[in-house]
Amino acid sequence: MALTQDDMKRAVAQAAIAYVPNDCIVGVGTGSTANFFIDELARIKNKIRGAVASSEASAKRLQGHGIEVLSLNDAGDLPVYVDGADEITRHMHMVKGGGGALTREKIVAAASQKFICVCDASKLVDVLGKFPLPIEVIPMARSYIARELVKLGGQPKLREGFTTDNGNVILDVHNLQIMNPVELETTLNQLAGVVTNGLFARRGADVLLLGTPDGVRTLTA
Ligand code: A5P
Repeated sequence: MALTQDDMKRAVAQAAIAYVPNDCIVGVGTGSTANFFIDELARIKNKIRGAVASSEASAKRLQGHGIEVLSLNDAGDLPVYVDGADEITRHMHMVKGGGGALTREKIVAAASQKFICVCDASKLVDVLGKFPLPIEVIPMARSYIARELVKLGGQPKLREGFTTDNGNVILDVHNLQIMNPVELETTLNQLAGVVTNGLFARRGADVLLLGTPDGVRTLTA
């Protein structure tokens, strides 16, 4: 029987467990694939000290499994961060933030030695940008930043009815063909009022576990 997308997500979540050292605090991402990882982590919860979550939703799921959730300030640097992506290239550059957790994801990823990206095969692309690029902005800067994004060639749309865990809003930028993700990430970071943009290129993934109909493929940076 053909594997479903959920089968592939579960397979990569299981494969990611091999990257979790004994007795460590694990960085945990957000989204449906990260949820599969949390469920797998629950099976080895006696071997880890706890987790740092990149969203309230992931924290709740971890706690539901009886896994201790620590604040990053108490945990210090982490050996590994496991998270999904909305798009990823073979150069390990990603678009993230479809679930709106990009700011905390970027922080936990930055504080982790290794980023293990877990995705099904549909996420691997040659050029980033088909998936609208999420940008978390301070609410009062929303219109100003939207105008600046239009100058950069994008079509920003406010994510209606959504507030991030940090109390901000998200602009999803359509129609960007992101030929130079590192440069665009830097440019977007410099716009006043941008909290975080969903390009994870300056610090991309170290390992990509890709769920395919033929099994899990491992790609490295
Ligand atoms: C959450 O904000 C995102 O960065 C997720 O990592 C991304 O949306 C992937 O989610 P799925 O695993 O549900 O595709």
